[in-house]
Amino acid sequence: MNSFCHYRVDLGARSYDISIEAGGLDRVGEAMRGAVGDAGRCLIVTNTVVAPLYLSRVEASLSAAGWQSVSLILPDGESSKTVANWSLVLDALMESKLARNEPVVALGGGVIGDMAGFAAACYRRGVPLVQVPTTLLSQVDSSVGGKTAVNHPHGKNMIGAFYQPKLVWIDPLVLTTLDGRQLRAGLAEVIKYGLIRDAAFAERLKVLMPDLLQLRSDAIAEVIHTSCRHKAEVVMRDEREAGERALLNLGHTFGHAIEAITRYRRYLHGEGVAIGMRMAARLSEQVGLAPAGLEQQVVALLQAAELPVAVPSFTAAQWLDAMGHDKKSVGERLRLVLMRGVGRAQIVDSVGKAEITTLLDSF
Ligand code: NAD
Ligand code: GLY
Repeated sequence: MNSFCHYRVDLGARSYDISIEAGGLDRVGEAMRGAVGDAGRCLIVTNTVVAPLYLSRVEASLSAAGWQSVSLILPDGESSKTVANWSLVLDALMESKLARNEPVVALGGGVIGDMAGFAAACYRRGVPLVQVPTTLLSQVDSSVGGKTAVNHPHGKNMIGAFYQPKLVWIDPLVLTTLDGRQLRAGLAEVIKYGLIRDAAFAERLKVLMPDLLQLRSDAIAEVIHTSCRHKAEVVMRDEREAGERALLNLGHTFGHAIEAITRYRRYLHGEGVAIGMRMAARLSEQVGLAPAGLEQQVVALLQAAELPVAVPSFTAAQWLDAMGHDKKSVGERLRLVLMRGVGRAQIVDSVGKAEITTLLDSF
């Protein structure tokens, strides 16, 4: 496996490269000149955990390539993905008077990427965005594809925009400082690609899992590579989620409900998705879409990644209320991603309250 890899996300005027390069963090300034244009000013948005680890290297790389950067360090964590913190990014942009062609650099995990991305989409109706994802989850999923958002107390990612970056710059070596729980949460989104559209990859993950949990570089590079390819392929076919892209939400309607009910404090996003994928698998069997045994296969893969699979015991009213706020609901019926088998996901529009109640009662 090459440590350097380039994918082009081909979206006409909104096309961009995904670069995957071990040690590439120190070359981001130079790469940004290629993707954005002549070096000028830029705003780096990061957080209190990532800044002490990587900000000085990114600042040095930018400076060496001729960029003048200002840095904004936000609080850490999903509970900080708020309108209030998004507004702090806008304040920093206004204060630094960044021009329309001067970029925002999102240095961090999916929370920073989504929040800084949404600010880049709004400031002056859109300034260039460069994603420098530093968690496994953000390297395999959130930095690619242009979904940006912040949370609302009534629902996750409810306020946001589709806004593609100019460059996604991935350095897998930054994952060495990520804690194990965060790494495993990222593996949930990796497993998701196998369950949705690539049964052979799901099989391969069983083999790779011990190495992935040990952060072995070849295994990590392989799954970032395969995941980015899947994400790019889906986004190129359906940028704004008119159809196929919704498959990437496997497990997310349940997962978002779990995160929202527990106020984004108890479960990591990837953990909610893991439990949600288990629930989707059982529901797929329950409605007769998948043969018996699918849930068992999904649970085995999630457990190999040491992810949680136990469904929390909220009341039916809590579940239904939280799921009703999800963006993917269609009137009284929920739009859910279910599976016909491993690697064969399908959007189902006809799931009603009764089926959900039966599912919840079964746990
Ligand atoms: P996160 O951004 O909260 O990062 C997880 C933790 O790791 C944080 O504490 C962070 O500070 C820390 N961290 C980041 N990089 C690190 C490093 N290299 N070393 C040590 N610590 C590091 O969470 P996440 O899992 O990256 O992203 C989850 C978010 O992504 C959710 O808000 C979710 O909604 C969003 N998301 C968005 C999309 C999309 O398409 N836009 C897709 C999937 C998920
Ligand atoms: N993570 C879901 C999407 O990007 O569409």
